[in-house]
Amino acid sequence: MIRFLRSAMTSLTTPPRVPIPANGVDYRGKVVLAPMVRSGELPSRLAALKYGADLVWGPETIDRSLIGASRRVNPRNGTVEFTRLPSNGGRTEAAAQESVIFRIDPAREKDKLIFQIGTASPDLAVQAAKMVAGDVAGIDVNSGCPKPFSTSGGMGAALLRTPDKLVSILEALVQEVGNPYQIGISVKIRILEKPEITEALVSRLVKTGITGLTVHCRTPPMRPRERAIRDQVRMIASICHDAGVACVMNGDVTSRDQALALMEEFGVDGAMIATAAETNPSCFQSQADGGVLPFRDVVYAYVKFCIESENRFGNTKFLLNVMIPGKNKEFRDAKASKNYADVCHILKFDDLMPAAHRLDEILNLTGKSAFYKDETHSKAVQNAIENNESARAASGAPRRKSISPAVSGVGPIRTSSIPTPMKSTPENEPNIDIPAPASNQVIA
Ligand SMILES: Cc1cc2nc3c(=O)[nH]c(=O)nc-3n(C[C@H](O)[C@H](O)[C@H](O)COP(=O)(O)O)c2cc1C
Repeated sequence: MIRFLRSAMTSLTTPPRVPIPANGVDYRGKVVLAPMVRSGELPSRLAALKYGADLVWGPETIDRSLIGASRRVNPRNGTVEFTRLPSNGGRTEAAAQESVIFRIDPAREKDKLIFQIGTASPDLAVQAAKMVAGDVAGIDVNSGCPKPFSTSGGMGAALLRTPDKLVSILEALVQEVGNPYQIGISVKIRILEKPEITEALVSRLVKTGITGLTVHCRTPPMRPRERAIRDQVRMIASICHDAGVACVMNGDVTSRDQALALMEEFGVDGAMIATAAETNPSCFQSQADGGVLPFRDVVYAYVKFCIESENRFGNTKFLLNVMIPGKNKEFRDAKASKNYADVCHILKFDDLMPAAHRLDEILNLTGKSAFYKDETHSKAVQNAIENNESARAASGAPRRKSISPAVSGVGPIRTSSIPTPMKSTPENEPNIDIPAPASNQVIA
């Protein structure tokens, strides 16, 4: 009897909580990396995790760009890559190279990665989300991007004005992806111009079965430089809490310590950092653990992750220009760099040079160097050439007959299977290649 009374009392005082699915993750108590197109690729996420981000969001990926992609495991580094052939406008020559749409590090991002989708359709959202559901801890719907490429298709911030559609997308994802794959579904919104409109919207969203809601404290027309407005945060957090949904705040959060203070002040469950982490991911490190580090330390870690992940060089260069302060000589030189050897030469990362050469060979960047004139193959590159088929091909060496498919070794990239929901047995897993769609797709 006493036990019954105690549990009845507890259920009266404990706020409700939408259950966190078995393969999902609770956003409560977390300081997280924001979704950022271009700036949220795998090396940036690994850097954020290294310095203490609790969770990382991937950059918004448009549903149509993922539908029809192939999933494969890169045997050189074990990353999972979703790739597709770019449309070549109907031309038949076979020169087109597969491009990686999304890359995951299944070991280091395990239980920490939220995939963000750009969508305006429940059907397409479900189709795309199923492609990655077995590889991530959650799917987040972008309902805040104000850029015309997103809103013109009815995606991003346009969904704030079509709540019926947004609700139907979230419900479809919860039922058809969240439940069978046992991962969480969440949404990222912006505040609206009047608190009553935000309130009406959030009140509907929290009833869809989502586990989390992030609010970027700017209205859709606000520019990134304008200060975030936090007046609506307490109201949004209260609606979320009444429904048992975790609430994450975003906008002008610049460090872990500040994030924790804001969470306390505004009664939210988590905080999300974008631009501060883009410039220096060590902002996730608390002051007690060393705080924000000099850019050189962070750039070293970032370049190492880029090389390990085989990151596209153009993306690496873009982020280096964000991370290296504009007045430094390295900044100007990094802008002119043409390959990974250049970057390591400019920044004096001598210990990364053998791996940089190896990757330049793999990415066909050898010989393009703007700074690093010694094009003779190092011992490490010779090793790679002897053991790695793509490096051999790049060096003009003859092809070997058989190649080891070991994940940690070298060899060709294998296409593997799209993961299936928890329920299905491994024998049921379909083998992919999924055919590419007819139209060219945009990646946000
Ligand atoms: C380079 C860049 C790319 C972004 N891409 C996305 C995106 O893909 N999805 C999204 O929901 N928000 C995106 N945002 C918005 C951020 O996630 C975040 O909401 C915004 O920058 C405010 O946070 P901050 O004040 O910490 O920068 C992007 C922001 C930046 C700076």
